[in-house]
Amino acid sequence: MVSQDATTEDQSLEFSLRPQTLQQYIGQDKVKENLEVFIKAAKMRQETLDHVLLYGPPGLGKTTLAAIIANEMGVQLRTTAGPAIERPGDLAAILSSLEPGDVLFIDEIHRLHRSIEEVLYPAMEDYCLDIVIGKGPSSRSVRLELPPFTLVGATTRVGLLTAPLRDRFGVLSRLEYYNEEQLTEICLRTAQIIDIGLEEDAATELSRRSRGTPRIANRLLRRVRDFAQVLGKTTINASLAKEALDRLQVDRLGLDHIDHKLLMGIIEKFRGGPVGVDTIAATIGEESHTIEDVYEPYLLQIGFLQRTPRGRVVTDLVYRHFNLEVPNE
Ligand SMILES: Nc1ncnc2c1ncn2[C@@H]1O[C@H](COP(=O)(O)OP(=O)(O)OP(=O)(O)O)[C@@H](O)[C@H]1O
Ligand SMILES: [Mg+2]
Repeated sequence: MVSQDATTEDQSLEFSLRPQTLQQYIGQDKVKENLEVFIKAAKMRQETLDHVLLYGPPGLGKTTLAAIIANEMGVQLRTTAGPAIERPGDLAAILSSLEPGDVLFIDEIHRLHRSIEEVLYPAMEDYCLDIVIGKGPSSRSVRLELPPFTLVGATTRVGLLTAPLRDRFGVLSRLEYYNEEQLTEICLRTAQIIDIGLEEDAATELSRRSRGTPRIANRLLRRVRDFAQVLGKTTINASLAKEALDRLQVDRLGLDHIDHKLLMGIIEKFRGGPVGVDTIAATIGEESHTIEDVYEPYLLQIGFLQRTPRGRVVTDLVYRHFNLEVPNE
């Protein structure tokens, strides 16, 4: 089984596998082309880049892109995450320590508390902080100037962002699942970095089973490399890749045992749906937000699941994938 949770080895590798420039960043052409223009224009005007919101499913390269933006602008990157900022004062401290032009990256920005969002509004709009001093009738508000900065926010759940926060971003970029060609290129690049031979059709096999996601492609490649290493091979060919991936229980569409449990659960216990996410989650023993963030988006994308007002429904494609009789056919 291939989980989305990285181990320490995986995490340090993930860091070293990150492309550093827009040019090294494979795919997401529309996002990249736009950012290129905005970065160039901001540099020509010697201004800071407008605030950028990156959204899309996990592992598609949001954190990577935030670092690239700072790198391309030639400024420092400061990184934090929504749940890490507990009090308005925490955010005020981060903001007032920025150098002019810096990029502040807030990951999981949909998880910011409302009280902290309110500190962010004037900071984003006017580069200032409104701080309340004292309590009760004698309290007063003072305005603190901040250096101009670029906020890059990332989220897997753009729908959970409040409208006032979303509206304060000048650039909204949605990352899409990668196609086979792009993932093949990513696998070949990673193979070079981790120093293992990878034949083109083995890379294609890996990319087919990576759910359109670079993080998964890189992880599968590293696991397949383990098989190669134990077998004493320095190059991965297609048959080795296939065998290893089968043993990792990743099927030919990249679905793992949790996807199987989810889809079969809907078929066996709810006659194919409709059924609500919370009910599915309880039945298969997963968190509903994990299903919504990690599993469901890809199943929707490949047409295996449909969202209806009454809940999720599996499509005929699922019955065919599992060699089951399609109901009412
Ligand atoms: N366009 C790309 N080209 C090459 N490698 C990429 C690309 N996008 C992502 N990767 C690789 O995929 C890995 C995961 O990317 P990243 O951590 O940026 O995803 P993320 O969108 O921030 O995920 P999460 O939502 O879980 O935070 C990185 O280690 C990077 O090596
Ligand atoms: Mg990230």
